[in-house]
Amino acid sequence: MKYEAIVLAAGQGKRMNAGMNKQFLELGGEPLIVRTLKVFDGDERCAGIVLVVNPAERQRLAQLLERYRIRKVTALANGGQERQHSVYNGLQALKGEGIVLIHDGARPFIRVRQLHELADAAVQDGAAIPAVRVKDTIKKANGLFVEETIDRSSLWAAQTPQAFRLSLIMEAHEAAKRDGYLGTDDASLIERLGKPVRLLEGDYQNIKLTTPDDLLFAEAILASRLVE
Ligand code: CTP
Ligand code: MG
Repeated sequence: MKYEAIVLAAGQGKRMNAGMNKQFLELGGEPLIVRTLKVFDGDERCAGIVLVVNPAERQRLAQLLERYRIRKVTALANGGQERQHSVYNGLQALKGEGIVLIHDGARPFIRVRQLHELADAAVQDGAAIPAVRVKDTIKKANGLFVEETIDRSSLWAAQTPQAFRLSLIMEAHEAAKRDGYLGTDDASLIERLGKPVRLLEGDYQNIKLTTPDDLLFAEAILASRLVE
C-alpha cells in the first residue's frame, strides 16, 4: 500500500547556531533537506510529498527541488509558529484517506525499509512510531539536584517518521487545536485521546540534526554508508 509524506522544513534551527535554517546546511555536498527528500522521492511506495516551508524560504526550496530533480513534492505548505502548527498546515494539503508519514526534514538517515514497516503498521494499528531504547541512565531533577532515577527499562526515545491513518491524525490535530494542547510530536496527540500508538524498533543512526555536534555524527554516518 502507498503512503503520502509530510516533510517539515519550516523551523529556524536556532540550536544549530548556523545563522540560517539548518535545512540548507550541506552534508557531503548536498543540502540536508535534499538528502531527506531523496529518501522519500526514491521510494516507490511514496505517492507524494507535502513539504512544509517558511514562506520566506519557499523560493529557495522550490529551486532546490528543480536542481536536484525531486519529483514527488505535490505541494509546498506554509509552516507555523510551532512544529505542531506546521504539521497541521501540511495535513490541510492532503485528503483524509490512506496513510501519512510525518517526518522531520532534519532526519536525513531514515531507511526505506523502515518507511515500509511504519506504513504497514499504521494500516494495522492506526498509529506507529519508530523509537530506540534509552541508553543513558535518566535522572529527574529539581533545579540542579537529583530528585529520582527513572526506571530505564520502559523508556524509549521517539523518532520520526511517525505513521498514521490520515483520518485519525487529522481528528487528533483538530482535537488538540480545540483544546489548546501543544505536543512535541504527533503521536502524543493520539495518546491523549486514549488511542493506541504502536512502537517499532528504530535506528540509532536516524538522528535529528539539532546541535553543531550532530554535524560530526552525521559526517560519520554518511562515511559509513558510502562503504556499504
Ligand atoms: N519545524 C517546522 N516548523 C516549526 C518548527 C520546526 O517545520 N515551527 C521542523 C524543523 O524544520 C525540523 C523539525 O520540525 O525539520 C524538527 O524540529 P527541530 O529539530 O526543533 O528544528 P528547528 O525548530 O528548526 O530547530 P530549533 O528548535 O533548534 O530552532
Ligand atoms: Mg524546534
